[in-house]
Amino acid sequence: MPRFDEGQEKHMPNIVIAGAQWGDEGKGKIVDLLSERFQVVARYNGGHNAGHTVIIEDEKFVLHLIPSGILHPGILCVMGHGMVIDPWALEKEIAGLVERDVEIEDNLVISDRAHLILPHHRVLESLAEAARGENKIGTTQRGIGPAYEDKAGRRGIRMSDLLNKDTLPGKLAEARRHFETICRGSNHTPELDWDQLLQDLLAFGERLRPRIADTSLVLQRSMARGYSVLFEGAQATLLDIDLGTYPYVTSSSATAGGAVTGLGISPTRVDGILGIAKAYTTRVGAGPLPSEIGGSLEEEIRKRGAEFGASTGRPRRCGWFDAVVTRYSTLVNGFDSIALTKLDVFDPLAEIQVCTGYKYKGEVLTDFPADLAVAEACEPVYETMPGWVEPTAGVRDYALLPQGAQDYIARLSDLVGCEIGIVSTGPDRLDTILRRSSAVAAWFE
Ligand code: GDP
Ligand code: IMO
Ligand code: MG
Repeated sequence: MPRFDEGQEKHMPNIVIAGAQWGDEGKGKIVDLLSERFQVVARYNGGHNAGHTVIIEDEKFVLHLIPSGILHPGILCVMGHGMVIDPWALEKEIAGLVERDVEIEDNLVISDRAHLILPHHRVLESLAEAARGENKIGTTQRGIGPAYEDKAGRRGIRMSDLLNKDTLPGKLAEARRHFETICRGSNHTPELDWDQLLQDLLAFGERLRPRIADTSLVLQRSMARGYSVLFEGAQATLLDIDLGTYPYVTSSSATAGGAVTGLGISPTRVDGILGIAKAYTTRVGAGPLPSEIGGSLEEEIRKRGAEFGASTGRPRRCGWFDAVVTRYSTLVNGFDSIALTKLDVFDPLAEIQVCTGYKYKGEVLTDFPADLAVAEACEPVYETMPGWVEPTAGVRDYALLPQGAQDYIARLSDLVGCEIGIVSTGPDRLDTILRRSSAVAAWFE
């Protein structure tokens, strides 16, 4: 439970952390780093498609569902209704953390309004992906999209349903009816044991009962007591269902606004928004990545950055820093500051490209286009910068960064139109620079 004394009067900031690119920017590391300044960490979107890595003294934790704040004892972690939760994955994650001596008692609560991912969602996803043929989204195959479809289709099963043995069978029957209609249309013979599923879900309900709560109220009460909340986004702006590279997106609201709708809090409670961006760009799965590098240099960056999915192990596609993308993210999220991660990955490069615009039909676009055909056809416009060819790995003081690295950071900040308040120079919690003159430092004064 939160460490603060009850009735604290000072208003501490509530901050949203959101990905600025296509995910895997290092949100887990930054959430973990800042968690000690908060009493509550609340995740607002996505499911176990996310993989948030935290490294503490060479020990590696990958969190998929549980907020990254869980690694700090005494912080209340909230899983909001904007998430979709696979109860099997959740219990597995809890058990794995408990086995490693992470305390998970009354410090983890789950929204009673959160929708569930059930086994039939994975079947629906594999049918949908197969039907798309060459246009596959390249999803994580966790059932995320179909679970959000059932939510929007008003036939989803929610956490609160697990606690009501009278109404759960009818709701499950409705989900089954819809599922089997689709299976018939796809000539697929389903093999799910729905009676067993009902029993499993009721058993989950009994085990999870102490954690299931109206988390919107939990947050209201926490904030009323003066506790400060860190809102943890999963995925990222360009994967957002509305603002991303649709249809090559995930199915939730990953941008900062998702914190409000996904947790049931007022926009007026958000005091600041921190975007997380890599010093370059990566993407897992299909869809446009205009600044994709290609060839042996991309291989080298993938290797140096260990760019393999934290959830699925898939190699991540790597591109140069795309200022069009990150400026777009800055605007739609309203970033007050950006944490720039993985600067150290560029240490050996003699030359670095930065994408400043897209050439399309003789014009240079500087705003990210809605039409994917445009995003796919455009040619990136690059500005070449000299590399610093000196180690930045593990540097913890801005003044000790090589001049070339400082120039790179300053140029990105100019192009994107946002300060870079945090610079990350390695995976460890401690390999981080918090700039004294930044909005981030001001939040915690
Ligand atoms: P998330 O999904 O945004 O939380 O990011 P992931 O955890 O999927 O991927 C980020 C990866 O980069 C993880 O393996 C981190 O340990 C690692 N990482 C984070 N910051 C840095 C950094 O500054 N330098 C290096 N070399 N690795 C980093
Ligand atoms: P974190 O939180 C990177 C991608 C998938 C796929 C698309 C849709 O670790 O940054 P889905 O299974 O969500 O329906 O897949 O979204 N994707 C991610 N890529 N990081 C993630 O999460 C992702 N979560 C989903 O690769 O392209
Ligand atoms: Mg990740």
